[in-house]
Amino acid sequence: PFEWYAEMRQETPVCYDERRETWDVFRYEDVNHVLKDHDAFTANRTLEADESSNGGSDEMPMLQTMITTGPPEHNRLRGFIDERFQPGAIREYQPQVEKVTAELLDDLENKQQFDFVDEFAIPVPVIVIAELLGIPADRREQFKEWSDALVARPEDDTQEEIQRVQQGQQQAQQEMGRYFAKLLEERQGGDGDDLVTLAANAEELSRGEKVGFCILLLLAGNITTTNLLTNTIWSFEEEGITNDVRTGAIDHEQAIEEALRYRSPIQSLKRIATEDVELNGQQIQTGDILTLWLGAANRDPEVFDDPEEFRPERGSNRHIAFGTGVHFCLGAHLARMEADVAIEQLLERFDRLDADLSDLQPLSSLYGLESLPCEVSMNA
Ligand code: HEM
Repeated sequence: PFEWYAEMRQETPVCYDERRETWDVFRYEDVNHVLKDHDAFTANRTLEADESSNGGSDEMPMLQTMITTGPPEHNRLRGFIDERFQPGAIREYQPQVEKVTAELLDDLENKQQFDFVDEFAIPVPVIVIAELLGIPADRREQFKEWSDALVARPEDDTQEEIQRVQQGQQQAQQEMGRYFAKLLEERQGGDGDDLVTLAANAEELSRGEKVGFCILLLLAGNITTTNLLTNTIWSFEEEGITNDVRTGAIDHEQAIEEALRYRSPIQSLKRIATEDVELNGQQIQTGDILTLWLGAANRDPEVFDDPEEFRPERGSNRHIAFGTGVHFCLGAHLARMEADVAIEQLLERFDRLDADLSDLQPLSSLYGLESLPCEVSMNA
């Protein structure tokens, strides 16, 4: 999509697409502005929830989470958990993430050839979030199936395929809804420090909101982190810098930030105008939908030198891959820590890592790869 972004940023930075019935916004300054002005632009339909479900229930709770609710309600839905996602609290989870990663690497060590996506980038965030939520280990497999179904996309445009995926999503959501509702009830009043207990004890939330919170963490955190891990190794291999990152000649934290900018896991966000407003010379009407292209903003030459180049040594990297404003990603510090740990341990473990970049299938809206075949070896 990057050539299209460059052209649009230059020619028509804010423009209406009749077919998709949305304004497309490409420049960093405009995207940033819309995200920060939550009075004029609401996130109320970011997940494009089914409005007929009318406010949500345990079964369809997606309408009542922080990601689709503006201030002041937003604060109530996010406030109870914000602290637990701050850098200090996240550092305490690090040993857990190290253990999860080490165990996955033990398996890969025996294989030597594996699919980086299926066997590393997908399991890391799923297991980590399951541990943070306090999901019993024997539920993990089921849990992964649910999270896969929730973010599944149709493989073609046929009506049957679209229906199949939607039904899968609804079923997974209902089953998870029931599962979390039960778990929340069991843990209410408990003193565990897992996130389910914390939500269970949050008096300011309704039952449906608690369930919605648990499901939101899976929806928002899994595929995104999977894609960050994949896009990072993809970029390292493409640039031929994997070894420099391993030796420390290139700082891995900075390189991961650059991967976030260069191949942002979420390429676009949606907003709806709540008033008539002008944006970069265009007249937006109340009720209009806007598609904010984070991936285009993150390559805006007004903000980044040589934006089309992957430059891990970029000094200040003001990318907005985690959004900005009140909805700034709750899990940003967690995702960064997971990526730092996972990438560092992976490169420490293997002296050689080769990814096969010959037949890549980039995914679009949630930007990453379907698969990334890798071969690794260790010195004796
Ligand atoms: C919000 C990106 C990982 C939880 C967001 C938003 C972005 C984003 C762009 C803003 C959405 C909007 O404004 O409409 C990412 C990326 C990730 C990542 C690129 C990984 C590389 C995670 C993880 C979690 C998480 C690991 C939780 C475990 C959330 C939540 C919100 C959010 C709860 C909603 C915050 C709010 O509305 O106040 N994320 N995310 N994310 N993210 Fe993430």
